[in-house]
Amino acid sequence: CGIVGVTGNENAVEMLMNGLRRLEYRGYDSAGIYVNDQNGKDYLVKEKGRVADLAKAIGEDVHGSTGIAHTRWATHGQPSVANAHPQVSADGRFYLVHNGVIENYIELRDKYLQDVTFKSETDTEVVVQLIDYFVKHDNLTTLEAFRKVLYLVGDSSYGFLLMDREEPDTLFVAKNKSPLLVGVGNGFNVVCSDAIAMLNYTHDFIEMQDGEIMILTPEKVDIEDEEGHHITRLPFHVSMDASEADKGTYPHYMLKEIDDQPTVMRKLAQTYFNDDGQVTIDDELLADLQSADRLYIVAAGTSYHAGLVGERLFERLAAVPTEAHVSSEFAYNSPILSKHPFFIFLSQSGETADSREVLTEVNAKGYHSLTITNVQNSTLSREATYTMLLNAGPEIAVASTKAYTAQIAVEAIIAKALGEATQQVAAADFDLRPQLGLVANGIQALVDQKERFEAVAKDNFVDQRDAFYIGRGIDYAVSLEASLKLKEITYIHSEGVAAGELKHGPIALIESGTPVIGIITQERTASLTRSNLAETAARGSHIMTIVTKSLAKAHDDIILEDVDEMLTPLLTIIPAQLISYYTSLLKGLDVDKPRNLAKSVTVQ
Ligand code: G6P
Repeated sequence: CGIVGVTGNENAVEMLMNGLRRLEYRGYDSAGIYVNDQNGKDYLVKEKGRVADLAKAIGEDVHGSTGIAHTRWATHGQPSVANAHPQVSADGRFYLVHNGVIENYIELRDKYLQDVTFKSETDTEVVVQLIDYFVKHDNLTTLEAFRKVLYLVGDSSYGFLLMDREEPDTLFVAKNKSPLLVGVGNGFNVVCSDAIAMLNYTHDFIEMQDGEIMILTPEKVDIEDEEGHHITRLPFHVSMDASEADKGTYPHYMLKEIDDQPTVMRKLAQTYFNDDGQVTIDDELLADLQSADRLYIVAAGTSYHAGLVGERLFERLAAVPTEAHVSSEFAYNSPILSKHPFFIFLSQSGETADSREVLTEVNAKGYHSLTITNVQNSTLSREATYTMLLNAGPEIAVASTKAYTAQIAVEAIIAKALGEATQQVAAADFDLRPQLGLVANGIQALVDQKERFEAVAKDNFVDQRDAFYIGRGIDYAVSLEASLKLKEITYIHSEGVAAGELKHGPIALIESGTPVIGIITQERTASLTRSNLAETAARGSHIMTIVTKSLAKAHDDIILEDVDEMLTPLLTIIPAQLISYYTSLLKGLDVDKPRNLAKSVTVQ
């Protein structure tokens, strides 16, 4: 979910609504706003659906200088006006927005709130009713009641913004395992889940730690730790321009982000290389990597798929055993670790709760780690030993594109640096910097053929129920991501299959016309994958190939520029991204905001 709050600005409604629009990638099944004008007038408006629906529901008279707002990705209770936030206490005194999950809300409700009639099915309403209960029942101040409830919810995940009608210019803020930043303005202060939401109003932000409470008034930001001691913390400056998060003339963020990829490759070739063209990464990080006997890459979703490519890069270039793991699995079912493990977290947002759970455990055991992320100062970046940035610019479309290719490029950079440090011939021979230039050109050649991919989408995908991407080795890793892209935004059932495994089961699903796309970039296995494609064609499938130039045959479909065999994922994924984009578009779906998904998932 996305959260935003403002105190002390006459344009609070406009600021909150602009903030919500910027945060909509975090959830979009309902939205709501509460504002108070400090003269006894206040307004609560909630709507099912998008932020645009909420904007329509807000009447001209809705105004105020302090307020809170929320855009929701449902956890407890289906999307509806009643379940939308802000949630309100019984007599309308307290208003609360929440991102996260309160694990013990049923116990708390049964223990303290037997007499309360609930209006929603949310865990959040229990929290706001509890605050009201302790203020009335135990005669606590709002701050005391808030603190008491934070204690009672224990280690649940939350970002909370609370308002009290009787202190209408104050925002009470707390977080645990969920991102929140406070922004400092001139005569006003703001709070948000992501700096992007408020960059139009301030560039100075104060980071917030788990367990702290912040009390915001127009003139002041008070920070208190868990015991109530005051803390001083200076703001940091975010130099990013708000317009970097705009889609400009593009119809969708996803198309813009696909087109950004050549530039991102060139930027990485600048960032992590010196003037002599040598790869440069942090010395201490390199030393730490060298002393590891095994690398564990931990990630979720698309980032996990980038990790599967990384596994191969690290083993082949740096000769270090490497395992990629899904973070939600690793957290509770970890493998036996090697003697000297080193952890690499891949996360576009730097906020994914599943990954953070693992990092917390890694830190508790005293192991060292690196976070590779697109978001400076994100939670996973702050909590890992080292950070490397993707420098890909904000990624807004829910389906990840440029973060995936940037993650692979950064993994290649690290693998090259590590392999060189340990004198691996494969690393010395791997001419990465010029290769990244070739990759950028190869991507450009593909994104310049948009009409062609639109035609493929129209002729071969739009009307299909199922589709398969197949490959071997690194091409199999890309098949998983290609297939995820398709299912996320087109709702076509899709699987990425190890080409040799097809005949052991999935081939049963092949029907007349089912698209099967073979990714073929590895010389050693090219003919085997071709045979596996033929086996599906014999059963009626419609086969297509994505092939590098040097391996291409006359009947191949999509032919890519030649790049090093280990960097082909940076090219093979591009046709899949574009085919998914156009299929979604032709089906009339919401490309950037597919159903049921959210971009940044801060619950486990
Ligand atoms: C969500 C998004 C996916 C993303 C995954 C991991 O599920 O919908 O697109 O790959 O989270 O996100 P991260 O920010 O950790 O890379």
